[in-house]
Amino acid sequence: MAHCFITRELPGNSLDRLRAAGHTVDQWEPSEPPSAEDLKARTESADGLLCLLTDQVTAELVDSSPRLTVVSTMAVGVDHIDLVACAQHGIAVGNTPGVLTDATADLTMALLLALARRIPEGVEAVRNGSWTTWDPSGLLGMELRDRTLGIVGGGRIGKAVAQRAEGFGMKVLMSGRAGGPNPGLPLVELLKQADIVSLHCPLTPETEHLVNREFLGQMQNHALLINTSRGRVVDQVALANALHDGQIGGAGLDVTDPEPLPADDPLLAAPNLVVIPHLGSATVRTREAMAEIAVANLLAGLEGHKLPHQVT
Ligand code: DGY
Repeated sequence: MAHCFITRELPGNSLDRLRAAGHTVDQWEPSEPPSAEDLKARTESADGLLCLLTDQVTAELVDSSPRLTVVSTMAVGVDHIDLVACAQHGIAVGNTPGVLTDATADLTMALLLALARRIPEGVEAVRNGSWTTWDPSGLLGMELRDRTLGIVGGGRIGKAVAQRAEGFGMKVLMSGRAGGPNPGLPLVELLKQADIVSLHCPLTPETEHLVNREFLGQMQNHALLINTSRGRVVDQVALANALHDGQIGGAGLDVTDPEPLPADDPLLAAPNLVVIPHLGSATVRTREAMAEIAVANLLAGLEGHKLPHQVT
């Protein structure tokens, strides 16, 4: 029988499987994530940790948790986990790829359309009474047919966004990791041609602040930037400057650094910006499926098996 720490309430009944297997479950109840100290204190005696992307699994945490054999995150992104430290301690790491592809691709299109068709401004105008009449020149936006979408990151989610964009009559360009399985177009070419640039790469040392002053300077002045990957892929100071200077046409962000952004963060004062609260995978079906996979990974790790979705 093993002891597990689960860092939040999960949707669905997936934890029943852990209990049925005879494991003890310590579940963090507050709606806010545990602090680093709480995470450490509760993981110290655990054999398994089921965490979220809001929990930092650091080398220090791993060092102070001698019994830990498996870390299972309810996320596809593993940038919050020190994979090297886990490997050094023989701790298996699991994630939840695949099940959130469609939800994230749908959300990418929703954000793109919200920005291109100025929906948040329209909602606000109706609510605050500043919309007084149908106006031939009011809130004009960008239509998608025949526009070029540049997808940065040729993985599952990027491809699912490409499929959707083609349904809207868009031309799609892709740029993947140089030397990777789908390198696609050189990034600089994509940035020159794209009317909309959408980020679908994982956060790694190579992609941290990939979107910097130079990147933004290569985009067209009317082009829109969409980010549903990780906040740290974008240098937010450079983005705020580019929006203020009209160097790009707008940005739609599902992810920021930090999350949430403080209300007085200078980025929020930039024009033509839509920010939403990390909703990429936020559908009932997807979140339940993520929880199921996270528990399946945890169970496999506790039983000494290879995880169904093991991060290598
Ligand atoms: C993930 O799983 O990494 C997503 O960002 C959650 O929406």
